[in-house]
Amino acid sequence: MTLGELVAQTARRFAAAGLRYGHGTDNPYDEASWLVLRGLGLPFGADPKREVSKSEQRRIAALAEKRMRRRVPTAYLLHEAWLDGLAFFVDRRVIVPRSHLAGLLRGRMRPWLRGPVRRILDLCTGSGCLAILAARAFPQARVDASDVSRAALAVARRNVAQYRLGHRIRLIRSDLFARLGRQRYDLVLTNPPYVSAAAMRALPPEYRYEPGVSLAGGREGLDFVSRILAAAPAHLSECGLLACEVGSGRHALERAYPRLPLVWPRDEVFIYEPARTPAAAGKSATRSRGGGQAASRARRAAW
Ligand SMILES: C[S@@+](CC[C@H](N)C(=O)[O-])C[C@H]1O[C@@H](n2cnc3c(N)ncnc32)[C@H](O)[C@@H]1O
Repeated sequence: MTLGELVAQTARRFAAAGLRYGHGTDNPYDEASWLVLRGLGLPFGADPKREVSKSEQRRIAALAEKRMRRRVPTAYLLHEAWLDGLAFFVDRRVIVPRSHLAGLLRGRMRPWLRGPVRRILDLCTGSGCLAILAARAFPQARVDASDVSRAALAVARRNVAQYRLGHRIRLIRSDLFARLGRQRYDLVLTNPPYVSAAAMRALPPEYRYEPGVSLAGGREGLDFVSRILAAAPAHLSECGLLACEVGSGRHALERAYPRLPLVWPRDEVFIYEPARTPAAAGKSATRSRGGGQAASRARRAAW
């Protein structure tokens, strides 16, 4: 059997098994290519005519069984996920990287930047993937990467070391901004938990392998986003930007903050620049002092 035949056979089995995708691929063929090639330690450009030995076929059959019967995401089976052309180590301590912020970092952030980017914060860093992509996109910048999960930070540390960026990326354990002190950033990136309670209840099996703390964003999915919006102005430099992913939460967010001028480079990501928000700028001192849910509700009403 050749590699090409094994990929095609595995793709047919995946299609028949009714798997769910979204962890790096969106169809059975790409998922099968990934599992077969990387499961055999081969590059994506491997020759499809290469012969596959019996023991290699058994190795792939075992992985494919786990993918189909137990619905384990391929990224966790292989301990690798790809984002914007880079491979990251992953296991169940972190979600599988797939953030839309990666595409923005590739250059589409530039139109909104009004000054040099020297300090970056990747809030809710998980595997560290966005911090690493940011450090590569802005070679002059220093990056803080924070997460509340000690386990996630251990994975991030491994990825930062893999890309030899330990001298530019600092990992910090923090509940959102709580332990970041008075530091201000030119760019705050965040892909926080934003899955609504209803969507959490309907998660496909594949997604249940990911840590709940990484996904669950409260009733409407806005619990973390609201806290981030409230605290961000106190942590941004004069022309600083917040770029935040909200998944399918755009409408809920616009309902909750009808007067907040958010820019949407794509439906899942907004950019917020407090300095360009005269009304909000006047309130930033109040916002930065606030903490609890009541304060957050009051601020939402005001915006
Ligand atoms: C959706 S994942 C994003 C991970 C990574 N940035 C990415 O894009 O793949 C959200 C991350 O937020 C972290 N998190 C959850 N609650 C948090 C909190 N209160 N403060 C900081 N991080 C938190 C989780 O541990 C998880 O790693």
